[in-house]
Amino acid sequence: MAFEIETVRAAYPALAEGFRHFDAAAGSLVARPVADAAHTVLTGAVANRSTAFAPGRRAVEIVDAARAAVADLVGGEPGGVVFGNSATSLTYLVARTLARSWQPGDEVVVSRLDHDANIRPWVQVAADAGAVVRWAEFDPKTGELPVAQYADLITERTRVVAVTAASNAIGTRPDVAAIAALAHAVGAACYVDGVHSTPHQPVDVGSLGADFYVTSAYKWSGPHLAACVASPARWSGLQPQKLRPSSDDVPERFEFGTPSFASLAAVTAAVEHLAGLDGTATGDRRARLTASMTAAEAYEQGLFAELVQGLSAIDGVWLCPAPEDRCPTVAFRIEGQHPAETSAALGAEGICAFSGDYYAYEYFTAMGLRDSGGAVRTSIYHYNSAEDVAVLLAAVRRLAG
Ligand SMILES: Cc1ncc(COP(=O)(O)O)c(C=O)c1O
Repeated sequence: MAFEIETVRAAYPALAEGFRHFDAAAGSLVARPVADAAHTVLTGAVANRSTAFAPGRRAVEIVDAARAAVADLVGGEPGGVVFGNSATSLTYLVARTLARSWQPGDEVVVSRLDHDANIRPWVQVAADAGAVVRWAEFDPKTGELPVAQYADLITERTRVVAVTAASNAIGTRPDVAAIAALAHAVGAACYVDGVHSTPHQPVDVGSLGADFYVTSAYKWSGPHLAACVASPARWSGLQPQKLRPSSDDVPERFEFGTPSFASLAAVTAAVEHLAGLDGTATGDRRARLTASMTAAEAYEQGLFAELVQGLSAIDGVWLCPAPEDRCPTVAFRIEGQHPAETSAALGAEGICAFSGDYYAYEYFTAMGLRDSGGAVRTSIYHYNSAEDVAVLLAAVRRLAG
């Protein structure tokens, strides 16, 4: 395993500006090959898709390559990768499409730990269909999402269980495989929000038991584009509302209008970039991704432990409770200070950290923190350095003192 932080950082031109980025949970910087790939498409002869002439064939190849890349990233099949503008829009699409067959009295299960993008679409389509929404609760003292409650929440009427693979507020990684198994036992589908987890660890949709897995490339060094991955057979059984002349093939049936070929080429480049994070990794791209994401995770977790220990040791700093085993994201408050003030004070020192609820609306409402500004969120990504963490901790110490 070889994760060379200086080599990795050198791949991100934007780091040269000198900001300390603890904001990757909201969107990471873009790696140079990603920008280069988009530039090549935008300045080259790439037409709309056609088999008749070379620039049209290039577009076809770009789309195919991007599907293959995302399939490698998450362990899916290229023919089951549907692209869309964002995880939010894809989740609305899947929710609306699935709900077309729901009957009054059917049920969906959502969790209060989730980003609103994996809650509200289900709540809204359930209301339209007369379906019942059941809520999984997190434990406010530990930040865990206990699996046991799902045995009661899931019934013969459950059609979908929507759950996150990682909380974008506090990093908790629910036991998705166990939750999916309970869903499958009654024939329900498990829709997994992989937006926060994908950048931080190897992903295998099969072992997660995810029937649908959504991920956003701008969280893992790529462009603003998202993908929802399911088996081609599952997509085949679904019929979205669509234009008459547009392709009815899977996965194109679920993609509306002309895609951004520049962004799709950038997605492929981002996956290649991730596969190269461990410079010694060998084998096919999936194998290199597994090795590289394992190496990146170990590196991130090392820095994250320093960050959490450092924050915990500062008088006047309160951390949102979260399990030890989690994605490298921590939310905190400085006593007597509005989180937005803390965020702005850090920003004035060149430290990028969001405050608020980051759309983890239900989480912060249930914690009683939303109306008073949520919390400051800092997350570690593979380009953060030990110096970044030291600078952040020194700044928080000053602000808390
Ligand atoms: C966990 C999680 N889910 C969903 C989303 C929404 O992603 P998108 O901006 O692609 O709609 C985000 C964005 O921050 C997120 O963190």
